[in-house]
Amino acid sequence: MTAKKVLLIIGHVPSPNTQKLRDAVEEGANDPEIDGVEVRALSPFETGPDDVKAAGAIILGTTENLGYMSGALKDFFDRCYYPCIEETEGRPFAYYIRAGLDGTGTRRAIDSITTGLRWKCVQEPLLCKGEWCDDFVNQARELGMAMAAGLEAGVF
Ligand SMILES: Cc1cc2nc3c(=O)[nH]c(=O)nc-3n(C[C@H](O)[C@H](O)[C@H](O)COP(=O)(O)O)c2cc1C
Repeated sequence: MTAKKVLLIIGHVPSPNTQKLRDAVEEGANDPEIDGVEVRALSPFETGPDDVKAAGAIILGTTENLGYMSGALKDFFDRCYYPCIEETEGRPFAYYIRAGLDGTGTRRAIDSITTGLRWKCVQEPLLCKGEWCDDFVNQARELGMAMAAGLEAGVF
């Protein structure tokens, strides 16, 4: 039996709305039509370099805090950047941001760090910005589904 490819969701969920986003990404990735992918959803704090190396693709999820990504996601990068850099070049990834107002600084930071890692961004970043809107959940579900379908099909 061929091992399933792993889609790793690293999502920070400090609030009910961010929990909804993370759950929607996971739900989309677990679409019943996609059976060749194992979805793993972890907090940034519990994600280590081995989780990243084992993943065929990654979805990052963060809030924007003080003009930057969450401390939780930054902690993940602080711990995993050098242990991963030699072995994860080209890793396909996508990300979503929940920002009360802006999101620009977080986007810039994620783009910069992942450029350093030489990961490959394969979806337009999902920026859920401003007042909460229920459609964010649909967009998050679509992001999860698109990443899982792309990983299963080997299109990245
Ligand atoms: C300490 C703190 C700093 C924040 N800084 C920013 C910020 O710089 N830019 C922004 O767009 N939103 C900022 N926010 C809003 C958060 O991004 C938002 O509350 C978070 O994504 C959770 O979304 P929710 O309130 O809809 O659950 C901040 C929130 C907190 C608590």
